[in-house]
Amino acid sequence: MKRRTVVIRPCASLKGTVRLPGDKSISHRAALCAALASGTTRITNFLFCDDCQATLRALRMMGVRIAADPDRECVTVEASGLLSAPKGDLDMGESGTSARILMGLLSAQPFASRLDAAPSLLRRPMDRVMDPLRRMGASLQGRRGPAGGEFLPVVLFPSALKGIAWRQKIASAQVKSAVLLAGLFARGATRIEEPVVSRDHTERMLKLFRAKIRRQDDTIHLEPSRLTSPGSVAVPGDFSSAAFFIVAGLLAERAEVLIKGVNLNPTRIGLLWALKRMGAKIRVLNKRSGFEPVADLEVRSSRLRATVIEPREIATMIDELPILLVAAARAQGTTVIKGAGELRVKETDRIESMRSNLSKLGVTLKVRSLNKREDLLVPGVEAFPAASFKSFGDHRTAMSLFVVGLISQGPSRLDDTACISKSFPQFLSSMKHLVAQ
Ligand code: S3P
Repeated sequence: MKRRTVVIRPCASLKGTVRLPGDKSISHRAALCAALASGTTRITNFLFCDDCQATLRALRMMGVRIAADPDRECVTVEASGLLSAPKGDLDMGESGTSARILMGLLSAQPFASRLDAAPSLLRRPMDRVMDPLRRMGASLQGRRGPAGGEFLPVVLFPSALKGIAWRQKIASAQVKSAVLLAGLFARGATRIEEPVVSRDHTERMLKLFRAKIRRQDDTIHLEPSRLTSPGSVAVPGDFSSAAFFIVAGLLAERAEVLIKGVNLNPTRIGLLWALKRMGAKIRVLNKRSGFEPVADLEVRSSRLRATVIEPREIATMIDELPILLVAAARAQGTTVIKGAGELRVKETDRIESMRSNLSKLGVTLKVRSLNKREDLLVPGVEAFPAASFKSFGDHRTAMSLFVVGLISQGPSRLDDTACISKSFPQFLSSMKHLVAQ
């Protein structure tokens, strides 16, 4: 992909209304469930980003008819409930969510398949999802890493699955979702115990498609089920995308930003609670409920103070940690983020990508390692000087640094913004719209 360097000029104010693109996690799940249900499902506000395109591409290769209308952000899926053998490798691009969730689905199919990916995803661990699938009887083989572990490409062979009782060690929604999709096709019930709750979009989507699924305390119970299409699914706006506008609105001078239609699923909005503790002026307006809760957010310039993030909060803000680091770097005092090690296995090692960029602003991010747990210490500074940043090809690092550029004291440079299309192709134009108004 071609790199796109930008110069970011500080904004004098940030004002206006943002309409968010559809949620990435929910778009993947809506397409996957629609492909498993017989009949037609119309998905509106679908997110047309690189990652969700990888899921659509794979489903098409398995015989699912998908009509995509990117201008109307709409996808119509016509499925028979049965998938057919793909002719060739399924290319996951850089989408870890597509790869891990599809692995669950594919391990239960009566045909063999092979998942391949772009270089950044080839480096990300897959054993976390392959282990529980093997316990269900799945037959799959990954590439062994030089220091152990398994990675893509992964080959999957047909096998009969059985339900398992399984306790999640890492709070990962991708792994949980793979086990749940495999469980739809297994013999017997599947039970997943989640000591730390991860995003529950798969559970909600499966319920919408009438799977026999319920939650009791910290355990999810799923019976093998055939999915029934609800006819249409409206994807709410992505909180992870809203996060960049929220923090920009808090840190910019004279800011007043209204973000419409944000998914406020409680398993996703740890950043919102953390920012409120830090003194953020954010009002939740117009709450409405559906299969996912939605509301509008009004954000105003605020003086932030440091906070402590506990390990159990991490899963609820995992994708927002890079932008939380930006907020922390401008808060009064030292923010402590406990148990942030999962950041090392995202699109890039986000602890290192953010540490090296923040150091250019005079912010020394310290990592404290305690019994395999990594805690981050971020001292706040009064102002950000102009600087030259590197995104490391990582969309969330890039968007976080763009926000830094907007609130810096002079023009900054960001080496690559092309990676932003992984999750939020309209990010730059939506942000420019607020700056220009
Ligand atoms: C996702 C789960 C999270 C998140 C990723 C999307 C999902 O990953 O970081 O961007 O849609 O299930 P983990 O499951 O690895 O925590």
